[in-house]
Amino acid sequence: MCGIVAYIGHRQAYPVIIKGLKRLEYRGYDSAGVALLNHGLKLYKKKGKVAALEEITVGKDLDGHIGIGHTRWATHGEPSDRNAHPHQSSNGKLAMIHNGIIENYAALKSELIKKGYVFHSDTDTEVLLNFIEDIQKNNGGTLEEALRIALKRVVGAYVVVLIDKDNPDTLIAARKGSPLVIGIGKNEHFLASDASPIIEYTKEVVYVNDYQIAIIKSDELILKNLGNERQTPFIQKLDLELAAIEKGGYDHFMLKEIFEQPDTIRDCLRGRLDVQQCTITMAGIQNNIEQIKNANRILIVACGTSWHAGLIAEYIIEELCRIPVEVEYASEFRYRNPIIHKGDMIIAISQSGETADTLVAIEKAKEQGAVILGIVNVVGSSISRISHAGAYTHAGPEIGVASTKAFTAQLTVLAMVALKIAKERETISHDRYLHLLEELNDLPEKVSHILARAEHIKNVALKYKDVINALYLGRGYNFPVALEGALKLKEISYIHAEGYPAAEMKHGPIALVDESLPVIFVATKDAYHEKIVSNIQEIKARKGKVIAVITEGDETITGMADDILPVPEADEVIAPVISVIPLQLFSYYIGIAKGYDVDKPRNLAKSVTVE
Ligand code: G6P
Repeated sequence: MCGIVAYIGHRQAYPVIIKGLKRLEYRGYDSAGVALLNHGLKLYKKKGKVAALEEITVGKDLDGHIGIGHTRWATHGEPSDRNAHPHQSSNGKLAMIHNGIIENYAALKSELIKKGYVFHSDTDTEVLLNFIEDIQKNNGGTLEEALRIALKRVVGAYVVVLIDKDNPDTLIAARKGSPLVIGIGKNEHFLASDASPIIEYTKEVVYVNDYQIAIIKSDELILKNLGNERQTPFIQKLDLELAAIEKGGYDHFMLKEIFEQPDTIRDCLRGRLDVQQCTITMAGIQNNIEQIKNANRILIVACGTSWHAGLIAEYIIEELCRIPVEVEYASEFRYRNPIIHKGDMIIAISQSGETADTLVAIEKAKEQGAVILGIVNVVGSSISRISHAGAYTHAGPEIGVASTKAFTAQLTVLAMVALKIAKERETISHDRYLHLLEELNDLPEKVSHILARAEHIKNVALKYKDVINALYLGRGYNFPVALEGALKLKEISYIHAEGYPAAEMKHGPIALVDESLPVIFVATKDAYHEKIVSNIQEIKARKGKVIAVITEGDETITGMADDILPVPEADEVIAPVISVIPLQLFSYYIGIAKGYDVDKPRNLAKSVTVE
């Protein structure tokens, strides 16, 4: 949430920052701004996307080799020019960008108001900045010292980056709870919320840890803790290519990412699944297999789409491994003093690896002795670093705000993890194990097969683009797919949609059914097929419109539904990876037909680093 970029070095800072902000726009896009230092401090900011900021800077003085930039997802104060970052301190000397929330900002603000400070925005950021200025004024020390003192009083999460008119050769940054990566070039440094603005300049990066302060010059990077002790930067090599974060000929990142799924699933299986040898190799799991296989209970924590992947994992793990599983919203789990026993295992699922609620939830569980297994997409992210064990999903950068390829990669990894545990616990027969390995192996081809029929899905979607509500129903493994389908439609087409277990609809949602309500059934052939056929009949009897995701050749449902979205046959354990694909495309085409920016839907952000 909120994207930050900063540069110091021999290049002009402005173009580096603007390009970087565009790459980070998925994190927030309601306003943007930049501050540059060069014989004084220049600040430009504008409500709207980065393109709007570029427009107002045409013809302006953009010279400067040190600068900071920000793309905002509003927390304190509406999206507006004056609430956009960077903010300037009261004496005009400091400028700061911030990602996160200062929870005790109201108390700090009233202290400062009593001292005569006047505020020009509604943000918590301006409060923190003036608090830092005030400390420096009273203590007479350096900005670094003032920042250190200020951060000890701050409650909340932050990445902050400051520039100082009086020290035009230094950037100062600090982190707690929000991500910060520093790229190390030749006599230059790049700072960003993730590596995407950095990779075209350097592959050497340092991930800043919580409670660290970075003092950065063109040719020097110093890391310190809040106790003013120097810490050695751990330099890592990025394994990321520029092409992976560009649209590559597609109209939208979302479409590109949907169409990448055969490849991302293949990448996820590569080097792990070996059908001939009948093995799954996952070093991160294998190294901790004793603890994992002997877990008394598994708790899955996640948010959003990743939570839906967790729900599907609950079905898979309970069936294959016979270990009880509970799936929790991370935001609820972290605050309700959960009971965690020794021997419990927590699986944290996260695309970004930075979601604040998931991160704090596992930190708390770790303190109580749980083993943490991270299923994460972004390599080197906070969740991956604090987990004891884990497996990356290898889906590559996901830029469209609505998650697609990360979800199917999560399901693929979770199925492999479950199979591996089941094998170790001997809760699965050899034949079933081999069959599921083959099913996993066939996934990329089956997904390609569905994508080749995108035009049919588009035609169905266009028929329903003007509906106001939609109901998604599924049973068993396909129930969470119904939830995910409804979420996708809400996110990018702003149509109200609800997902329900198909049988549960009799306890409420059926009251909504009339000829104007489309009901999307996820009804591939599985153990519940006959039951869901009855549910379809119940909707038809009330004149609802039925759109059904079905297994190819399912004559029964074809004869009943208004529209069908056929997918290849698959074992029910694997089926969600297949049945979600038409629902992703269905939402995409409706969003586009309604003229919305599907990559950056209103009010949403890709990486939710505030709670
Ligand atoms: C945001 C994103 C969703 C994502 C959720 C959890 O809401 O827009 O696409 O599913 O956060 O994010 P995570 O990175 O933890 O999977």
